[in-house]
Amino acid sequence: MSWLQEPARVVTRTHLDETVTVLALKAPRIAEMIVPGQFVMLHPPTSSYLPRAMAPLSWDSRTGILSIVVRIVGPGTRELQALAPGDEVDITGPLGTALPFAPGPWALVGRGVGIAPLLPWAHALAAANQEVRFYLSARRRDLLLAEQEFRELGQLTGHLDEEKTGHLVTDDLLRDMENGWKPEQILVCGSRRLTEGTVEIQRRFPVNASVLLEEKMACGIGWCKGCASGEQWALLCVDGPTRPLIEGVIQ
Ligand SMILES: Cc1cc2nc3c(=O)[nH]c(=O)nc-3n(C[C@H](O)[C@H](O)[C@H](O)COP(=O)(O)OP(=O)(O)OC[C@H]3O[C@@H](n4cnc5c(N)ncnc54)[C@H](O)[C@@H]3O)c2cc1C
Ligand code: FES
Repeated sequence: MSWLQEPARVVTRTHLDETVTVLALKAPRIAEMIVPGQFVMLHPPTSSYLPRAMAPLSWDSRTGILSIVVRIVGPGTRELQALAPGDEVDITGPLGTALPFAPGPWALVGRGVGIAPLLPWAHALAAANQEVRFYLSARRRDLLLAEQEFRELGQLTGHLDEEKTGHLVTDDLLRDMENGWKPEQILVCGSRRLTEGTVEIQRRFPVNASVLLEEKMACGIGWCKGCASGEQWALLCVDGPTRPLIEGVIQ
C-alpha cells in the first residue's frame, strides 16, 4: 500500500442541508494516485480528534481536486463540516484496496453518503463498457448524490424517504432479477438494511456481492489493528474497505 500525507486546502464548501456538506479539497498528489474503492483520512491541523475516514465522491488528477461528502454523526465530522474555503486540512491517502475488476453486469446499491464511493466505480465500469445499473436511496432528492451523473452512466432506480414507499432499493433489484435481469456482481454501500437485502437476493439468485464498509477506523494505515473484522478478521483499512459477502457473511 503506497500512501502519503499532504496538506490540503478547502477550495469550496457546499452545505446540502444541516448535516450533509460537500468539500472540494485541493490535494494534487493524492488526486493523482487514488483509484475507485480507496479512501482518505482527514484531520484538521488543530483538531484533538483522530483523523476521520472518507471515501471521495470524485477526483480530478488535472485540477488536483477531490470532492468529499461529509455527514455529521459526531464531533469529528462536525469539525470537518465546519471547514471553510481557504482552511487547511491534513489528508492521508490513498488508503485501502482498489475495487477488483470483474466482468458485469454490475448492480451498484447505495444509500445516503454511501452513494459517494459508488460514483468513481460507476465511471470506471462505464469506461470499460460494462453494463451497470444503480439502485440508490436518500432522504430527499437533493441528497441523492450526483443523480444526473449516475443517470448518464446507466439505468437508475431511486428511492426517496419522503415518498414513503416502504420498501428498499434491494427490493427493486430483486424485482428486476425476477424479471430476468442477471447481474454478475452487486456492490453495496451505506446501509446495513441494504446489506441484509443483498443477502436475501443471494439466497434467491447466484450472484457475487461485496460490501463497502464504513466502519470505525483509528489509524487507517494498518497499525492499530482496530478495524479487524468479518469472518476472516481482515484489516478493513488495508484489505478493505470493500469485502466479499458470501453466504450471508462478510468475509
Ligand atoms: C472507508 C470509509 C469511508 C467513509 N466515507 C465517508 C464519507 O465519504 N462521508 C462520511 O460522512 N462518512 C464516511 N465514513 C464514516 C466516517 O468516517 C465516520 O462517520 C466518522 O469517522 C465519524 O466520526 P465522528 O467523530 O463524527 O463521530 P463519532 O463520535 O466517532 O461517532 C458518532 C456515532 O457514529 C458512530 N460511528 C462513528 N464512526 C462510524 C463509522 N465509520 N461507521 C459507522 N458508525 C460510526 C459511532 O459509533 C457513534 O455512535 C467513512 C468511513 C470509512 C471507514
Ligand atoms: S484502522 Fe488501524 S489497523 Fe485499520
